[in-house]
Amino acid sequence: MSVDLLITGIGDLCRMGEGVGPQRGSDQGDVGSVLDAALAIQDGTVRWAGPRQDVIAAAGKPARVIDVEGRTVLPGWVDAHTHLLFAGTREDEFALRIAGATYEEIAARGGGIHASVRRFREASDASLLASARKNLDLAMAEGTTTIEIKSGYGLATEEELRALRLIATLKKTHPIDIVPTFLGAHEIPSEWRDNRSGYVDAIVEDMLPRIAREGLAEFCDVFCERGVFTPEESRTILEKARSVGLGLKLHADEFGDTGGGRLAVSLGVTSADHLHGTALDLVPDLARAGVIAVLLPGTALFLGLSRQAPARSMIESGVAVAIATDMNPGSSMSQSMPLMTTLACVNLHLSPEEALVAATVNGAAAVRRAAKVGRLRPGSRADFQVLDLPGHRLLPYHYGVSHVRAVFRSGVQVWGSAWS
Ligand code: NIG
Ligand code: FE
Repeated sequence: MSVDLLITGIGDLCRMGEGVGPQRGSDQGDVGSVLDAALAIQDGTVRWAGPRQDVIAAAGKPARVIDVEGRTVLPGWVDAHTHLLFAGTREDEFALRIAGATYEEIAARGGGIHASVRRFREASDASLLASARKNLDLAMAEGTTTIEIKSGYGLATEEELRALRLIATLKKTHPIDIVPTFLGAHEIPSEWRDNRSGYVDAIVEDMLPRIAREGLAEFCDVFCERGVFTPEESRTILEKARSVGLGLKLHADEFGDTGGGRLAVSLGVTSADHLHGTALDLVPDLARAGVIAVLLPGTALFLGLSRQAPARSMIESGVAVAIATDMNPGSSMSQSMPLMTTLACVNLHLSPEEALVAATVNGAAAVRRAAKVGRLRPGSRADFQVLDLPGHRLLPYHYGVSHVRAVFRSGVQVWGSAWS
């Protein structure tokens, strides 16, 4: 049988490790690199991936052939943690932080998430969609083909439902595959400041059942942190989320060891995210619980956090480490996954290969898509990027500029000029 599309002349094809789950321990560094390779695609799915001659022999007479002339082919990035649907920007807070204020001080003065909530509630659907589309296009231009987007700037039932419906609209109309997450517990909204438990009740009794009924989210997340949601409140919300069929995520230990990591272990969440402040002795428990650690090195950079997540110890203990952008207007205004790979190498001490697995396979596992996405193996969705580089190791190394020549989603080119 002949395939639809043959990508040949690949200088370095990173198929990533075999299997269908996350890559842990020594497997975290296995990018499955094949030099002088080809990729055969049928019906939007990878049919064969490997040495050029073998794939060409198997591929019959392909309907279309693209010779990428020695370039590198990687799976599209899976950015497993973003807050990409928001109104307005907060460059004023960036300037305040440079002058010495902390993220938490700015939030306590009514800035931070509160400022974005006010703007979100005033913004029209059309303006929110337009700005999110622009930010998705920028992500795609950097090689991202799957992205998680959280609600969390509505913080009232109708506004949170509006956010999730807008995310559903983006999912239907943008080439990037979008994973919707409900984050009604992103902050205590100011109107509930004196009645925190009332807001938790609204999430549990009103928002979660409606979201589940309308099928608006795959995951529920909570910002468990000093001054935001306590571990007890977070547990109440996540247990309800589980009971209505949602997957679980947790913003944990972003600013210190505040019990979030421990809660993540006890609930067995799919992913615990941030973990800058997680204590070393929790790491083996994260491994045992099979929790994926989604590390956000852009946030640590942008907020000037002195502590880094204990990434090496995580990998050595068998925790699957993913990296993501955290794209949001406050703590990490970037959707550049290549930049995150560089930061993961330099600041988290991942090897270039471990960083690439973190940004693809393990990101996919953090959004429960690892069986289909994040690898270029037979049966994988044909989501990939062609880089103007002769080998994968150059990607985290040559940082701050784009090397993306083309991006394909389900075998269809969605970014980059057409091949002649
Ligand atoms: O992941 N931590 C909570 N949420 C975001 C920040 C969102 C914002 O500042 O608007 C984060 O850092
Ligand atoms: Fe976040």
